[in-house]
Amino acid sequence: MDKTAVLFVCLGNICRSPAAEAIFQNLIEDKGIGNQFIVDSAGTGSWHVGKKADSRMRFAAKQRNINITSNARQIREDDFRTFNYILVMDNSNFKNVINLKNRIKGSDFAKILKMQDFSSNFNEKEVPDPYFGGDAGFDYVLDILEDSVSCFLKNITNFKDVIPLE
Ligand code: 4NP
Repeated sequence: MDKTAVLFVCLGNICRSPAAEAIFQNLIEDKGIGNQFIVDSAGTGSWHVGKKADSRMRFAAKQRNINITSNARQIREDDFRTFNYILVMDNSNFKNVINLKNRIKGSDFAKILKMQDFSSNFNEKEVPDPYFGGDAGFDYVLDILEDSVSCFLKNITNFKDVIPLE
């Protein structure tokens, strides 16, 4: 069986998308379906390439038994040809990822989706960027992501289909 490849994307790849990646990885392992997926995260920017996730996000996640172990990387052309789903955290990420996709051949393979379109318990239309805020912002992002990431997983495992973008 082909694996389903899922890429979470934010701006720096040190706060939101590594958290989403770790939450998704935990969920699929808990459900015993970890071997059916390839999971990764990336940033649209390159400032933090090679760095561990922000220590504030790693600490907040650790309180929930979520280990964030990824190192930051920037999204690259090949991602559009290898990942089935690219999930972006906010509208600015969406715009940047679509602009990049439009310059790449064969990029229609990946479905580009907004993370918050899968949320069931939060009204936020975007996953807010916690980087310049206080510690509470990191917890709030994790609350949001635990909801939307699990809804996304239910959606792809139940229906093998995607929610329309609009
Ligand atoms: P992220 O958060 O996109 O969730 O990883 C940010 C990390 C770094 C910066 C902005 C957002 N920055 O400006 O360096």
